[in-house]
Amino acid sequence: MDYPQLFSLLEERRSCRSFQPEPVPEQNEIAKIIRAGQQAPNPLNLQPWSFVVVTDPGTKKELRQAGEEAKQAVLEQGGPGWVGGFSIDFMEAAPLVIAVVVDPAKGGLGDYFNQPTGSIQAGSACIQNMMLAAAALGYGSLWFTFFDPARVREILKIPAHLAIAGLVYIGRAAGEIPASRRRAAVVYDGCFGREAADA
Ligand SMILES: Cc1cc2nc3c(=O)[nH]c(=O)nc-3n(C[C@H](O)[C@H](O)[C@H](O)COP(=O)(O)O)c2cc1C
Repeated sequence: MDYPQLFSLLEERRSCRSFQPEPVPEQNEIAKIIRAGQQAPNPLNLQPWSFVVVTDPGTKKELRQAGEEAKQAVLEQGGPGWVGGFSIDFMEAAPLVIAVVVDPAKGGLGDYFNQPTGSIQAGSACIQNMMLAAAALGYGSLWFTFFDPARVREILKIPAHLAIAGLVYIGRAAGEIPASRRRAAVVYDGCFGREAADA
């Protein structure tokens, strides 16, 4: 794969918030998506992740409820008003959700020098790989974290000592996904804040 091909895959992966209920990705496609996730860099190759694959409508409904509760919590705490109008219908419409769970005890040596987030960083890289694989298979996806982790742990029976890097919603996109813009990169020369001479 050359750079233009890689870049077009990167551009193709855009957050999808509207899914067709069918088709449900096949088992071999789900395996490919998870296998892509497992190729992510991770501290000491401890591979801190595990995956909960959800297709059951009842469970998706419960997750949606957790999302609605999170919206409510934001509004009650004076958070931005637009949250009230943010539709999370996709939480039930998407045919597949994969929770990426990580073990903070497998975060590498960062605990010794103020970097305790290794497992979440690895889980994040894992999710990115999964989303790129989903895009390569023709699926839209969304990295979703808008929930109280305690609620999602309860719904998915995830042990309390594990952390949730995200819920990844996957399915065929319903309609066009709007392009998402990127700002110009902020790049310094040699140390933070120093402009490049030719900038
Ligand atoms: C850690 C993380 C958490 C996110 N959580 C949510 C979320 O809860 N709900 C949502 O709609 N999008 C969520 N997103 C997606 C971002 O909103 C999205 O990536 C960003 O707006 C850029 O758009 P793009 O993915 O289409 O390039 C999350 C992304 C990341 C990396």
